[in-house]
Amino acid sequence: MRKYVMAGNWKMNNTIAEGVQLAQELSNNYENDWADKVEVVTCTPYVDLKPVVEVFDFDKCNIGVGAQNCYFEPSGAFTGEISIPMIKEIGCSHCIIGHSERREIFGETNEMVNKKAQALIEGGITPIICVGESLSVRDDGKYDEFVRDQVKAAFAGIDAADAENCIVAYEPIWAIGTGRTASPEQAEEVCAAVRDEIKNIYGESVAQNIRVLYGGSMKPENAEGLLAKENIDGGLIGGAALKADSFTDLIKACL
Ligand code: PGA
Repeated sequence: MRKYVMAGNWKMNNTIAEGVQLAQELSNNYENDWADKVEVVTCTPYVDLKPVVEVFDFDKCNIGVGAQNCYFEPSGAFTGEISIPMIKEIGCSHCIIGHSERREIFGETNEMVNKKAQALIEGGITPIICVGESLSVRDDGKYDEFVRDQVKAAFAGIDAADAENCIVAYEPIWAIGTGRTASPEQAEEVCAAVRDEIKNIYGESVAQNIRVLYGGSMKPENAEGLLAKENIDGGLIGGAALKADSFTDLIKACL
């Protein structure tokens, strides 16, 4: 039985004061026994990480905190970058890598995503590896092959025991922040393909254990249909994670 994962991606939203307030509201809503059914993670901007960790620690709240990016080198002359030991020390349990906004706006390549995945595993942080096709790739009907290639590239050189603990998030770019959600069938088709590709690389057992999330305009109104699908183990949530009540409703959809 795979445990659901609900990961909020705040993107470049919430100053420290705003982030602390949202974390406090989430903590007030959250019941620690929900952790038996669903792993909850809040991925905040770097500057919010420590204050948000402090809120959850103080409240003994079982919500994990993640970064939205990292650099794969442990230290050195990489102006503007943040290392894995830095986010580890803050108390991050997870880190999003390869988000389509990073790939599209900041030129992150499959190779960089793979290096980040390997370095995060080495550093004891769970990577949330994002994959997903653009509208033009979807319209060309090449999305299955495209996403499988991203999965293969991301997992290159990673062994089975580590792969099983990674999380993959399928986020069709045409559904991110657009209000145009993939239908449960469209999302399930590609999440199943991700799992199948994991099976091709690592075999049945890893494929059955790894969590594959859907992301792209997921909200309380459409979560139930998506979460009911066999190969969808939760969500990576942008807009709907910026309000404590809608994120809480999404968590409750997993219970
Ligand atoms: P959205 O973002 O829920 O606002 O579509 C999802 C994401 O980009 O992770």
